[in-house]
Amino acid sequence: MASELIQAVRGMKDILPEQVNLWQQAEQALRDVFAAYAYQEIRLPLIEKTELFSRTIGEATDIVAKEMYTFTDRNGDSLTLRPEGTAGCVRAGIEHGLFHNRQQKVWYMGPMFRHERPQKGRYRQFHQAGVEAFGFPGPDVDAELIAMCVRIFKVLDLAGLELQINSLGTPQSRATYRDMLVGYLAGYEDQLDADSRSRLQTNPLRILDSKSPATQEVLSGAPDIRDTWDSESQQHFDGLCAALRQLQIRFTVNPRLVRGLDYYSRTVFEWVSRDLGAQGTVCAGGRYDGLVQLLGHKTAVPAAGFALGLERLVELMLQNGVDAGTAPDVYLAMSGPGTRDLGMRVAEDLRDRGHSVQWHCGEGSLKSQIKRADKSGATIALIIGDDELAANSVTVKPLRSDREQVTIAVAQIGERLSGYFEH
Ligand code: HAM
Repeated sequence: MASELIQAVRGMKDILPEQVNLWQQAEQALRDVFAAYAYQEIRLPLIEKTELFSRTIGEATDIVAKEMYTFTDRNGDSLTLRPEGTAGCVRAGIEHGLFHNRQQKVWYMGPMFRHERPQKGRYRQFHQAGVEAFGFPGPDVDAELIAMCVRIFKVLDLAGLELQINSLGTPQSRATYRDMLVGYLAGYEDQLDADSRSRLQTNPLRILDSKSPATQEVLSGAPDIRDTWDSESQQHFDGLCAALRQLQIRFTVNPRLVRGLDYYSRTVFEWVSRDLGAQGTVCAGGRYDGLVQLLGHKTAVPAAGFALGLERLVELMLQNGVDAGTAPDVYLAMSGPGTRDLGMRVAEDLRDRGHSVQWHCGEGSLKSQIKRADKSGATIALIIGDDELAANSVTVKPLRSDREQVTIAVAQIGERLSGYFEH
């Protein structure tokens, strides 16, 4: 009996060669933008102590309560595959003294793990590029983070992303709001969806995110978080709005935007695309002024950051028609004794000049090789047959334009070919 095929774990996606170029383009653009804002890379472990996440993200959040990949290792320690990068970043910063009288601006990129119900745009292993700024209390850094997102979308030619912002105030004002919201919603408990009803005790602010129309109806009369902001939070928010206007960045204030992690205070924001269906949030973040001290640092360190979902970014690139660009510049077709030796030299010479060259492996008539060249997406085919070999030349066959086929001397390849690849 044939054994059953082993498939990838549900929700963990392979990134196949035809898409990997888009990923690399996205990753390069991100690195360039992070460097343009003078942020430095930090590389962190994929596994941390479970407590790191439960203490920072919050016991009552979906991430900690339902979605973590937690296991006991051989020493009996409870460990967790990181569901996000902020907590690890703060842990590392404290552990290595990065916050001692210093400001820090860092970025990271890599896989995260959450046991969510998989669907388009939502996976159990997914990738984030994240940015964290430590030691900056003012709204200018919030605006800088948002400007960085704008630049990422601009570099990648992505349209249709909308910015929503809100403020969660201070922990005290948030507690006041929480009480007001619970007080209001308690009067409508029987009209709430089941999830929201159970959140009433555990995590009432998340009810604001409910997709249930009945719950949304109830929420239309709910208290507004803005009424509970203290004056400093109000000032901070006004400062951010002014900076965004100065930068000509359009935004919507969404007083129901609360985020799914407990560590935020004051500014929160999300970039949402309507082109991605239910999982439309491409990028999200905010300020977390209390987190560094919560994890044991002696002094408070104001902090803010965001993380961008790479699967969603790449999907948007596909939808916006960004060229996957996997094709080689040149496909080299050879037929006849000795032609492969010349072909080898020509291919290496072209690679020295910075071109990508796909070498035809194995045999086959020139006709079938040209068919393959066409399929490869190459810009031109270079053909070396008996005649070319005798004259130390190559024939250039343009594959994507009406230009004539020409035969050129090998010595002229450098100067004659560059014209084919100008964009
Ligand atoms: P988050 O909102 O949990 O925030 O995730 C940020 C982004 O990661 C989301 O907007 C989405 O694009 C992507 N993402 C999250 N879960 C999944 C999933 N299951 N599948 C695919 N993509 C997903 C954070 O993680 C915070 N650490 C962000 C932050 C950094 N705040 C301050 N600094």
